[in-house]
Amino acid sequence: MRTRSIGGVAVGEIGLGGMPMSIEGRPDEQRSVRTIHAALDAGVTLIDTADAYHLTANDVGHNETLIARAVASYGGDTSEVLIATKGGHLRPGDGSWTIDGRPEYLKEACDASLKRLGVEAIGLYQHHRPDPAVPYADSIGAIRDLLDAGKIRLAGISNANPDQIRQAHEILGGRLASVQNQLSPAFRSSEPELDLCTELGVAFLPYSPLGGIARAGELGGRFGEFARVAGERGVSPQRVCLAWLLAKGPTVVPIPGASRPETIVDSAGAADLTLTADELAALDAA
Ligand SMILES: NC(=O)c1ccc[n+]([C@@H]2O[C@H](COP(=O)([O-])OP(=O)(O)OC[C@H]3O[C@@H](n4cnc5c(N)ncnc54)[C@H](OP(=O)(O)O)[C@@H]3O)[C@@H](O)[C@H]2O)c1
Repeated sequence: MRTRSIGGVAVGEIGLGGMPMSIEGRPDEQRSVRTIHAALDAGVTLIDTADAYHLTANDVGHNETLIARAVASYGGDTSEVLIATKGGHLRPGDGSWTIDGRPEYLKEACDASLKRLGVEAIGLYQHHRPDPAVPYADSIGAIRDLLDAGKIRLAGISNANPDQIRQAHEILGGRLASVQNQLSPAFRSSEPELDLCTELGVAFLPYSPLGGIARAGELGGRFGEFARVAGERGVSPQRVCLAWLLAKGPTVVPIPGASRPETIVDSAGAADLTLTADELAALDAA
């Protein structure tokens, strides 16, 4: 698979989002492991996770543990695999998502993720979401401390606006490696953040790129132009969507979620699909 850079580390152009394998509706572990192995077979080297991808209060970090186990049991070379996790979101176990951006909490969360991933330093650690109760500079200061302490190799942020991206880049001394925001045909308001990342040379990881777990399958039905281009190219609308995102900037690395081998293999094929300027214009206008 062709590669792009996250803070100088090369990753396959299409990543794998781990969330569907650990939250509501998750499959059994064997299917998840097959999904992760199929992604690696297809050339995926970026796997996105978070400590908060779990269901009950007793299985915090379910997705991190699952991914660490699946990568360890893969038969091939995994030295190029970059596992990207996040801290700052919590799930108390009642289905809700809460936020804690206090520096002391983020440092604790990072230590717990290090243990679950079984590594000395986390490949990419992302601040999951700004906490309105904590100054953003304080949360990002904790991420900088983790970087300086060598507990994380690369630092990223998520759900950030342009001001927060600039602020984080400055606090991290120019070492902001990635921004993970929602971007899909149904949710396009992260284009200013994507453009800023292109300008700064920071990786931009579109999350829920197919419209989210519940609606990814309907993409072609909801957006006719994506279905039309897909029909002409003989590929899925989801693959067209990921190729469209890749064309939006040289630092874009989409992270489609998957809980089945077939879907991540289909998505990985987007790295080989180059859309024409006319096709891209039609999809932009759709
Ligand atoms: N930073 C944040 O706040 C945040 C928020 C949400 C998500 N994320 C991250 O972003 C990742 C992706 O987002 P998401 O999982 O919410 O939504 P998504 O990627 O838009 O949709 C995921 C669903 O798409 C289906 N799918 C994938 N490839 C497909 C294909 N080629 N054809 C048809 N269906 C396909 C999968 O189905 P199957 O399950 O059947 O395989 C999967 O359940 C997450 O897994 C997570 O890592 C981050």
